[in-house]
Amino acid sequence: MAILNILSEQRQIQDAETIQAYLADIGVGYEQWQPSQPLGESAASDEILAAYSADIERIKAAGGYVTADVIDIKPDTPNLDAMLDKFNKEHWHDEDEVRFILVGHGQFYLHPPNHPIVGVEVGPGDLLMVPRGTHHWFDLLADRRIRAIRLFQDTAGWTPHYTHSGAEAKVAQMLASSANI
Ligand SMILES: [Fe+2]
Repeated sequence: MAILNILSEQRQIQDAETIQAYLADIGVGYEQWQPSQPLGESAASDEILAAYSADIERIKAAGGYVTADVIDIKPDTPNLDAMLDKFNKEHWHDEDEVRFILVGHGQFYLHPPNHPIVGVEVGPGDLLMVPRGTHHWFDLLADRRIRAIRLFQDTAGWTPHYTHSGAEAKVAQMLASSANI
C-alpha cells in the first residue's frame, strides 16, 4: 500500500487510484499486483516470478523489459549502507527503474522536470515504474527490509548518473522541519 507525499503542499495521499493518477501526470507508472497463488515470506525466486508471471509478461511486452529477478535485502545484508549510498542521492539512468515490492518497504523521491519533488513510499503489492532519465533517489525505511521483483531493459544493468543537486539534503530538512510543527 503506497503513500504519496507531496512535500511542497505538506499533503499525503493514500488512495491507490488518486496516487496512480497523480503519478501518471508526471510520467511515473504505479500499479497494485496480486499473486496468482499465495506466497510465503520465504518463497523461492522462481516461485515468486511464476506467481506474478502474467503481470510481468504484460509489462515486459509494453515496456521492452527483457529480464526479471528478485532481490532480497535485510537489515543484516553485508555492506548494506555502502549499497544504499549508491541510490540515496539524486541520480538518473538510461533505463527505467521498475520495482514490485513483495516484502518490506522502500522510499522513492521523484524529481520530474518543472515539478516539485514528491515522495512515494512503497510496500507489499506496489509496483513503481520510474522512466529512464527521471531524476530520483531511493532509500529504505526503518525496517531496512525489502524484497522486490526488478525488471530490466538491458541485461547489463544500469549505471547511476548523479545530479549533485543537493535535493536530498533539502528534502531531509523539509521533513525535519515539518516533523517539528
Ligand atoms: Fe535509480
